[in-house]
Amino acid sequence: AAYEAGEHESFMHKEMLEQPAAAERVLGGRLDERFGTAHLGGLNMDARETRAIRRVKILGCGSAYYVGQMGAALVEELARIPADAEAASEFRYRDPVIEPDTLYVAVSQSGETIDTLLAVQEIRRKGGRVIGLVNVVGSAIARECEGGIYLHAGPEVAVASTKALTNMFLGFALLALQLGRVRDLSIADGRRLINGLSRIPEQIQEILDREDEIAAVAGQLAAADSLFFVGRVRGFPVAREGAQKFKEISYRHAEAYQTSELKHGPLALVSEQVPTVAIVPDDELTDRNVGALHEIAARRGPLVVVTHEGVDLGEVECTRIDVPRNERELDPVLLVVPLQLLAFHAALQLGHDIDKPRNLAKSVTVE
Ligand code: G6P
Repeated sequence: AAYEAGEHESFMHKEMLEQPAAAERVLGGRLDERFGTAHLGGLNMDARETRAIRRVKILGCGSAYYVGQMGAALVEELARIPADAEAASEFRYRDPVIEPDTLYVAVSQSGETIDTLLAVQEIRRKGGRVIGLVNVVGSAIARECEGGIYLHAGPEVAVASTKALTNMFLGFALLALQLGRVRDLSIADGRRLINGLSRIPEQIQEILDREDEIAAVAGQLAAADSLFFVGRVRGFPVAREGAQKFKEISYRHAEAYQTSELKHGPLALVSEQVPTVAIVPDDELTDRNVGALHEIAARRGPLVVVTHEGVDLGEVECTRIDVPRNERELDPVLLVVPLQLLAFHAALQLGHDIDKPRNLAKSVTVE
């Protein structure tokens, strides 16, 4: 049957709601409870080759780049391999040094983004090994890579990526698990993460079930001309993705910042007119994040805080959105869902074309 929005007001809405089912598909058959690891046959790498990797370099554009940053954090945390993400569009123009013991990872929903494709070709020309985290089977990037992880998100039509992004994160978690388990990640830690991963689909559903509550918060944000999205470490790429979605479809100026850097500049702009969406998970940095909330509140900046139940935000006046708890390493995939809903409902209330925002294309296939 044709893929249609059906009773949904837009594809973006439909695709957000499909996330629990999509997440099940990317995880399906790939979790190994017994050995606390992931099965990723498509990587085409044996244990010896997997162990020889000294560095991981992730390349993508737009949301795929931001989720690449989340993926780099997962690889570093679980496998203790240095990892980072870079915009594919920049990478290929700076004559990058290609190393034989680096694993290059191209991330793309469409598999057709020209900047990512040309980055892959540049790496391969120089003898590097590239795998793909790609949604569309048989796409140009998938064909160009030596192996990879198909995302199985199903077709995605809305320019603002939702279910593909979720599955990219989960794909990175599987990759990090596999890289970790041929190194120092213990079987117990592996099982802890497997258990966490298997809870993700229902936990995404729990957030989606609170759509009405989050839509009301979006109404407050849609009125602002400019807003900040802030987070730290694991929370920072979440903030970047949240700001990106918000600007893409609401056309409001939304800027992402590391919470720790607020005092080095942007705090000068915080006022009653400039709200901040703060990512404050229950983790190693909660106290410091809460400290920053006080600084924003002292400048009368309206606050929306995406956090976990039980986190003590002190006396700070804010609107709070709690997401379910999971393993800390996996928090980003849940923290990002309310930000999708905020962007969607802000754009809806402003009367914009959600699926086809002005000036943007779903996939950019020409230079
Ligand atoms: C375009 C879209 C973005 C998307 C990016 C990468 O710029 O507007 O939403 O994240 O391309 O697309 P890809 O298909 O490579 O994931």
